[in-house]
Amino acid sequence: MLIDTHTHIDSDEFKDSFEEILKKANEYGVEKVVIPGVNPSGFKRIIKLCEQYDNVYGAVGVHPEDVNTFDENAQNLIKEYLKHKKILAIGEIGLDYYWDKSQVEKQKEIFEKQVLIAIEAKKPVLVHDREAHQDTFEILKKTKAKETGVVMHCFSGSPEFAMECIKEGFYIALGGVVTFKNAKKAKEVAKIVPLDRLLLETDAPYMTPVPYRGKTNEPAYVKFVAQEIANLRNISFEEIAKATTQNAKNLLKIPD
Ligand code: NI
Repeated sequence: MLIDTHTHIDSDEFKDSFEEILKKANEYGVEKVVIPGVNPSGFKRIIKLCEQYDNVYGAVGVHPEDVNTFDENAQNLIKEYLKHKKILAIGEIGLDYYWDKSQVEKQKEIFEKQVLIAIEAKKPVLVHDREAHQDTFEILKKTKAKETGVVMHCFSGSPEFAMECIKEGFYIALGGVVTFKNAKKAKEVAKIVPLDRLLLETDAPYMTPVPYRGKTNEPAYVKFVAQEIANLRNISFEEIAKATTQNAKNLLKIPD
């Protein structure tokens, strides 16, 4: 069994195919999925999907590209929804200096605020870090976020940075990039992350793994991510599936 710990299947492009996609995921051995929030306008739909489908879980948070939607109301909604039994974490939150460097200070402020909300609610954080490794790490360290649990989602750093994160107690989530032929860094990371710190994800509809690279991603394809990591580490698919599923259950408190 596999868990897709980060998938945006609440997005409009899956509106008409949602059940089909869940069914296909199941056929591929992906039994549970976690849908992270990106801004307050999407929270309600995530809650609705969580309530409608047993194997769907969610998170709420404001993505660094959406920091302008983080106001008092957003903050209250996040705190309120975190009490929902199927909302497992706060996310995705973090820093993104690739898309927008004009609001670095604001991104940092809002990231830190949300980490503190997570700590208060005793829920883990799903962290988006794109070209912002140093600042992301500093905020997580300063706030002692490891005590509440940290997932470095779609990890894009070096093997050295991965080990720094591991030492700090964070989890590393890997997705379709590890299957890309030229993704040397990601493959290296996939080899060295201790098995008890590794999580799988798709980040659908983006980051589609080989052999479907270029097409729309979906939770079923987390299977290809697991297979590639197993190949890279020279261990069985089952071993990767078992370890990553257990890690997700432990950290996110997903019931059996
Ligand atoms: Ni994402």
